[in-house]
Amino acid sequence: MSSPANRPRVGVLISGRGSNMVSLAEAARQPGYPAEIALVLSNVPGAPGLERASGFGIATATVDHRAFGKDREAFERAMDEVLRAHRIDIVVLAGFMRIMTAWFVQRWEGRMINIHPSLLPLFKGTHTHRQALDAGVSEHGCSVHFVVPELDAGPVIAQAKVPVLPGDDEDTLAARVLAQEHGLYPQALAAVASGAVALVGGVLVRR
Ligand code: GRF
Repeated sequence: MSSPANRPRVGVLISGRGSNMVSLAEAARQPGYPAEIALVLSNVPGAPGLERASGFGIATATVDHRAFGKDREAFERAMDEVLRAHRIDIVVLAGFMRIMTAWFVQRWEGRMINIHPSLLPLFKGTHTHRQALDAGVSEHGCSVHFVVPELDAGPVIAQAKVPVLPGDDEDTLAARVLAQEHGLYPQALAAVASGAVALVGGVLVRR
């Protein structure tokens, strides 16, 4: 177990309310958790999650993608500078609503994870709960995966399942999945931060 002084420093990227970020911050407060939440970065000025992060005493930053027009890589270079200034080791996407270029993904390969609200490889992209209801599946859930250039296609680190119940709508299903996300993401980050799970040559390895 790493000592608090040398725990990997995590940067959480958000765009909105940041409930997953809060679950990570709460987990990282526990003694023995193998990562430190060192920065919360938003692409949306005033995103509610920023204030919640400050409440935990976590440093926050905003890099507004709109300032860079269509130049996605310039936006990412600006984010990358902030991440490096805060000596971030692992990037955690938590409701970060920008698609990354291959440049950024390769720069953080094996050190960047995402949570997606479906049982990947099912229901990539957006409106996953609607997709699940339309498909008529009896089980749904969430996945934490390493980020690779192809959207929602990286090796899956961990998943949690929920039943789809009669009468479910998008909101009831999303709430049931979100409750699972809050337990799953801290566990998956701990596995990555401790080295129990790694991406080696594009392949997920468990040690
Ligand atoms: C979550 O459902 C997550 O799976 C998806 O975006 C949502 C973010 O919610 N990627 P929050 O900002 O963490 O509350």
